[in-house]
Amino acid sequence: MKLIEAANYEEMSEKAADIIISQVKEKPNSVLGLATGSTMLGVYKQLVEDHRQNGTSYRNVRTVNLDEYIGLSPDHPNSYRYYMNQHLFAHIDIPLSQTYIPNGTSDDVEAECQRYERLIESLGGIDLQILGIGRNGHIGFNEPGTPFSVPTHVVELTPSTRQANARFFPSFEDVPHQAITMGIATIMKSRHILLLASGTEKAATMAKLFEGTVTTDVPASVLHTHPNVTVIADQEALSLVPDEKRKVYGK
Ligand code: F6R
Repeated sequence: MKLIEAANYEEMSEKAADIIISQVKEKPNSVLGLATGSTMLGVYKQLVEDHRQNGTSYRNVRTVNLDEYIGLSPDHPNSYRYYMNQHLFAHIDIPLSQTYIPNGTSDDVEAECQRYERLIESLGGIDLQILGIGRNGHIGFNEPGTPFSVPTHVVELTPSTRQANARFFPSFEDVPHQAITMGIATIMKSRHILLLASGTEKAATMAKLFEGTVTTDVPASVLHTHPNVTVIADQEALSLVPDEKRKVYGK
């Protein structure tokens, strides 16, 4: 795991966007694994700006998102499909038919999980997967306690995750109870993983992550066992990570 320190959210977003843009330039038909949430907004803004100014093309890129709420249709303003269209896809030249997100309104969500897993395989796997991190250490919607061996699956969202995401919904009651998420096994097959963290609310989790212990209590800690992980975090997110750890992982 390699740590890149950023001064603030803006710089974290720029550094992450640079890595994604380089990936797309090197391999124009890359498979990008994407995430939603507040952390990613700045990155997507940078990608859109770069596309406008420098013409980086996504015409041959394929994208697979980490997760989707169960019960929200693609045109629901809180669905992750809506978020992705709104913040990225509508502003770059990727054909929507090359953008994939689990279908949260499928009649058979278990079959949908299997279909999604096969789809990722049929695309040749994920070249670069971007991850945010939950305050409880989750990646995708893989909550603490999830075995590392699980592929794409249905999850019951914990009250803390529903609470954390309630800010996007009219009220806490409106936050769905379930989601489909790529499993940790799915995520770990990605060839390169980029984990982003910003802000003091992530500081305690980042301190746990950089302790270095691999445990299902902190799902993101599995990334220590992956050969190609880059973490970009700002100073607020790193505020509880001791200097010696920053040095070890910063090399
Ligand atoms: C989003 C996702 C989640 C978020 C995480 C952090 O697709 O899978 O794991 O990355 O909950 O969310 P934010 O960025 O809103 O703090």
